[in-house]
Amino acid sequence: MKNQALDLSCTYMGLKLKSPLIIGSCGLTYSLEKIRKMQDYGAGAVIMKSIFEEQIIAETTRSLQELESEYVHPDALGYIKNYTEIASYEKYTNFISQVKKIVDIPVIASINCVSDGDWVNYAKRMQDAGADALELNISILPVDFSKTSKDYEDKYLRIINHVKENINIPLAVKTSLYFSSLVKTLQTFHYAGADALVLFNRFYESDIDIDQMKIISAGIDKEGIGFQTVLRWISIMSSHVDCSLSATSGVVSGKDIIKQLLAGADTVQVATVLYNKGLDHIKTMLDEVKAWMLKHQFNAIPDFKGKMNYENVENPEAYLRIQFMKYFAGIE
Ligand SMILES: Cc1cc2nc3c(=O)[nH]c(=O)nc-3n(C[C@H](O)[C@H](O)[C@H](O)COP(=O)(O)O)c2cc1C
Repeated sequence: MKNQALDLSCTYMGLKLKSPLIIGSCGLTYSLEKIRKMQDYGAGAVIMKSIFEEQIIAETTRSLQELESEYVHPDALGYIKNYTEIASYEKYTNFISQVKKIVDIPVIASINCVSDGDWVNYAKRMQDAGADALELNISILPVDFSKTSKDYEDKYLRIINHVKENINIPLAVKTSLYFSSLVKTLQTFHYAGADALVLFNRFYESDIDIDQMKIISAGIDKEGIGFQTVLRWISIMSSHVDCSLSATSGVVSGKDIIKQLLAGADTVQVATVLYNKGLDHIKTMLDEVKAWMLKHQFNAIPDFKGKMNYENVENPEAYLRIQFMKYFAGIE
């Protein structure tokens, strides 16, 4: 079998992709030149840098003061104002149209949101601008002591339902794992209309500067939610839902892509590694996937996708339990 004969194509929420490697939402996807290179190096799709719900509200109300003070932190207002100037909502939709003219891989718009408000109506504008799909990054931190887990879950569901009513392109939901019954809740998101689940959202993380005694940003070099955590939940979810799954966090090599696909992911998303190693690393990773497929005599992604998920691994619960006992008993 020749390397060229290998087929990396896959389907993600109904979209045909040339490869399962998607460029995750980040600053790199806010450049036409970089997006063109991503396509040339073999990326299957790109997810645009997120626009914030607050930005859409700010622009559509034409006045930041109109944002409710309890709704947006005062510090955030300055940031939004600044960000709105460089990446206004109008510019964002124009940018989608421009990207669509220069590449033929799917272009996925991204909105970062925390509530179900009027901004939702503007999701359709992204569809009209040519976006092939929309990824909603729902960034709710459950820190309110007066709210139950159900309150939070309902909030997600209201957002998903409302957005789904406004668009007919596929909808991906990038979510956190802060739910008391994660698998059931993720399944409910799919039933509410999510065509794909993106596991998991990377929250802004804070750190403490012990000399300055100040709260600071943790920086992007610290790993997000963690590769192995995502691997576990992809493996479980892929055995129980029939929507698409995309894995995001700590994917840095072809081996990592293979692992997430074996666990049942339809696609993987990469961001940090491209900042560290450059865009040509896309090709390096995909070549590594092809070399592995060749070695294991797999012609195409469906030949091995999900082969190692929770359902397909023999007696998975016992397997996990035994590993746990070995680890803590120090027996290897
Ligand atoms: C510099 C940077 C900017 C990011 N901006 C966004 C964003 O606007 N929207 C979003 O949903 N995720 C954003 N992310 C998160 C990534 O899409 C990705 O989910 C996360 O970084 C985990 O993948 P990684 O380990 O490959 O970086 C950003 C990540 C980085 C590193």
